[in-house]
Amino acid sequence: MKIAIMGAMPEETAPIIAQLEDPHNEIYAKNRYTIGHYGDAELVVAYSKIGKVFAALTAATLLERYGCDMLLFSGVAGAINPSLKIGDLIVASGLCQHDLDITAFGHPYGYVPEGEVFVESDKALRKIAHDVAEKKGIALQEGVIATGDQFVADSARKRWIAETFGADALEMEGAAVAVVCDALDRPFCILRSISDAADMDAGFDFDTFLESSAKRSADFILSMVEEIVHADALR
Ligand code: ADE
Repeated sequence: MKIAIMGAMPEETAPIIAQLEDPHNEIYAKNRYTIGHYGDAELVVAYSKIGKVFAALTAATLLERYGCDMLLFSGVAGAINPSLKIGDLIVASGLCQHDLDITAFGHPYGYVPEGEVFVESDKALRKIAHDVAEKKGIALQEGVIATGDQFVADSARKRWIAETFGADALEMEGAAVAVVCDALDRPFCILRSISDAADMDAGFDFDTFLESSAKRSADFILSMVEEIVHADALR
């Protein structure tokens, strides 16, 4: 079983890379891919750099060049749902692109022809996420994550994203990963820990909580890997 683990920033993947046995690095398309083992799983870990374009490139590379069977994303997000506090975990039910706009042609926000507004994430991986949360006694919310090439630090923009897409959290890569995994027919899971509330304090909060929230997400993802390998061994 070969599992891709992706983040957007070094802070998001470093806690995972630190746990790999016999890691080695390869550079491809100006990105570093770290290959190693975690228990019985072979992992390929990479951070894409921020934003949808870099995320799509890295996700496609992990699936096509490295032949990963599934992709798990670990990172941080801005909270929309007021019940999500700093450090809380959310697993995406579905993802959308809040900055995709061809409404001039009568289409809804987030839609382009032959695409879909929401890409649903893999149900079995979501179930594993909830099982892990239960075992570890950690609260895990499930909800819509909205992605765009914007760092949102504005309550009005946040409200618009909430009202338009029913989103619970926002970030800058998830929907790009979802589109790639859906197109290439590979299961994926997007997990995020909250670093800020996408409001006027978001820049400061992000800098303050990036590392601790990224670590919470990374630790959870590694527990998911253990559970995935265990479930696979039982099949
Ligand atoms: N990732 C974490 N916080 C974010 C925010 N406020 N906007 C966009 N991406 C984020």
